[in-house]
Amino acid sequence: MLLEISSLHAGYDASEVLFGMSFSVAEKGVTTLLGRNGMGKTTTIRSLMGLLPARAGRIRFAGEDITNWKPHRIAQLGIGLVPEGRHIFPNLTVRENLEMAAIKRADIAKPWNLERVLGFFPRLGERLSNGGNQLSGGEQQMLAIGRALMTNPRLLILDEATEGLAPVIRQDIWRTLRRLREEGLAQIVIDKEVDAQPGFADHHFVVEKGEIVWSGDAQALHAAGDVREKYLAI
Ligand SMILES: Nc1ncnc2c1ncn2[C@@H]1O[C@H](COP(=O)(O)OP(=O)(O)OP(=O)(O)O)[C@@H](O)[C@H]1O
Ligand SMILES: [Mg+2]
Repeated sequence: MLLEISSLHAGYDASEVLFGMSFSVAEKGVTTLLGRNGMGKTTTIRSLMGLLPARAGRIRFAGEDITNWKPHRIAQLGIGLVPEGRHIFPNLTVRENLEMAAIKRADIAKPWNLERVLGFFPRLGERLSNGGNQLSGGEQQMLAIGRALMTNPRLLILDEATEGLAPVIRQDIWRTLRRLREEGLAQIVIDKEVDAQPGFADHHFVVEKGEIVWSGDAQALHAAGDVREKYLAI
């Protein structure tokens, strides 16, 4: 397994959010975290990325125990995050946002660089000298994905990457994620629409109150009406 999270506990001050979160992610394919608002999906990712301390439990990635490593070391080891809310730098240009994220890695067959990211997102090429604050929501999201790719990740994590975007832009994002999947890039995708994307996700995990309560492939999820009703219906 590329990533293994076991019995992870984390929270904010006095409030516990994760109560023994455990799941694993394969070297290839798309893994999802599903679950209603406030169940701990983003908290899991923050803890995985070293942005929030793990109070108990272990996180292993690519053979290393990365529990409570500093965020930059985790990024350097090969986890790229497209965070909820995008968080691009509004006062830097598109080029600067991309270039400052770059991490070179020797062990990668087809490394990401500015040219390759612009080949994926030609729209960003037209906006290279624009500030982050001059971009549309869709362009900002493409920039957030491009920035994560510049780190040459072995695992790309997308937390609500289609949130708040027009339907046609959301379709663009899904097409992009499918291309990345075809290239063999492992992804964790958190998104309200993800299980409605045919053939995209390989494995689903359902999060409820800070732990995994169900897991299975797309076919199993479609068959499990009770799971959808109990944990995913709004
Ligand atoms: N910075 C914070 N300080 C205190 N509590 C927080 C903070 N961020 C999140 N929480 C709380 O932690 C719990 C889990 O939140 P989290 O953001 O992980 O949920 P989520 O599953 O990502 O939800 P959503 O689908 O809305 O993004 C919620 O009760 C939330 O209110
Ligand atoms: Mg969230």
